[in-house]
Amino acid sequence: TGIKPLVAGNWKMNGLKASAGELAALIDGFDAALAEKADAMVCPPALLVTAFAEKTAGTPVTVGGQDCHAAEKGAHTGDLAAEMFADAGAAAVIVGHSERRTDHGETDAVVKDKALAVHRAGLVAIVCVGETKDEREAGKTLDVVGTQVAGSLPEGATAADLIVAYEPVWAIGTGLTPTADDVAEVHAFIREKLVAMYGDEGGKVRILYGGSVKPSNASELMAVANVDGALVGGASLKAADFLGILAAY
Ligand code: G3H
Repeated sequence: TGIKPLVAGNWKMNGLKASAGELAALIDGFDAALAEKADAMVCPPALLVTAFAEKTAGTPVTVGGQDCHAAEKGAHTGDLAAEMFADAGAAAVIVGHSERRTDHGETDAVVKDKALAVHRAGLVAIVCVGETKDEREAGKTLDVVGTQVAGSLPEGATAADLIVAYEPVWAIGTGLTPTADDVAEVHAFIREKLVAMYGDEGGKVRILYGGSVKPSNASELMAVANVDGALVGGASLKAADFLGILAAY
């Protein structure tokens, strides 16, 4: 497809200053041969973004945030603005992760506002979508994903500032993964929507798959049409596993 894949590690609420050792091991192992085939990004807890951005400067590894507020600044105790992530050296911010949608009641409208804030800060928005187990079993996967895509993605996006991550909620942290055919169906559907929304640019926006990606299943999942990389949770915490997934390319 000509789209360079991205493997992004979402550390979620894991990692302390001492975890910089794993980052160092990732940087060490992410050699020129791997870096030629795929990009690598680490999204640590916000408190580590500054240090990680400093450690990755001059390397092919980039750093991202996990969430941000939709506003530019103001009276929002405990929240972080997209511009703060840019200031800290991040290249991207994840928005609309299912854990944010569930734990913090984030709607598609909120997610879209956050994605727009990420763009205002000049960063790449990684927007997550995905159905629950009940929704899949009820045959509503494409309906749900279609609604999330239509409602969560920001207007005017380009392939340079938008990444979509398809993460079936039931596959996150469970060891379960959809079949390659199921992944292909949803990714093709998202691709169609992206082209309808953004024209040619939509054909080039990366669509990541996320949910229990590990070294042993990465080759199969990453080979699926319209899968332009992975958003990895648990397996991204260990540099060896992260590199094992990158080695799928
Ligand atoms: O953002 C990452 C996903 O939620 C996947 O998490 O790889 O631990 O299943 P997981």
